[in-house]
Amino acid sequence: MTGEELILIAEEARKNACAPYSGFAVGAALLSADNKVYTGCNIENSSFGATCCAERVALFSAVAAGEKTFSALAIAGGKSGEGVNAFCPPCGICRQALSEFCSPEFPVYLTDGGQIKVTTLGTLLPEAFTKENIPKKGERHETV
Ligand code: THU
Repeated sequence: MTGEELILIAEEARKNACAPYSGFAVGAALLSADNKVYTGCNIENSSFGATCCAERVALFSAVAAGEKTFSALAIAGGKSGEGVNAFCPPCGICRQALSEFCSPEFPVYLTDGGQIKVTTLGTLLPEAFTKENIPKKGERHETV
């Protein structure tokens, strides 16, 4: 699966975005290590904080299906009802969520509707907080 193919799938997933509040529709396509593609779109809520981004919808649906290893992510975003015309980088929460499962070398494909840009999770989220930063049991300052 190429980056271009993954972008096309993200653009297709974007059609299902539920974005009545922002008017900004996003689609994501996440490729698992065993070559399955999991898609997501942003799903907004009248209680705005309950909104979920396209990337986390894709990631969580993949993890819920038993996937734990991923090889690439594509993201396509832009004004609802229009084509994609600017790159849509993932938000900070999605970068952190991805870092739980994906390495710093993990490729992230972005599109502006014409060009494709490839970056990595490590570039998007340098010096990530990970499980290595959490003291192991026994090293913790136990309060109870
Ligand atoms: N959004 C995503 O789904 N992914 C991104 O990478 C950036 C932002 C969504 C959240 C919200 O529904 C809308 O775009 C505007 O922030």
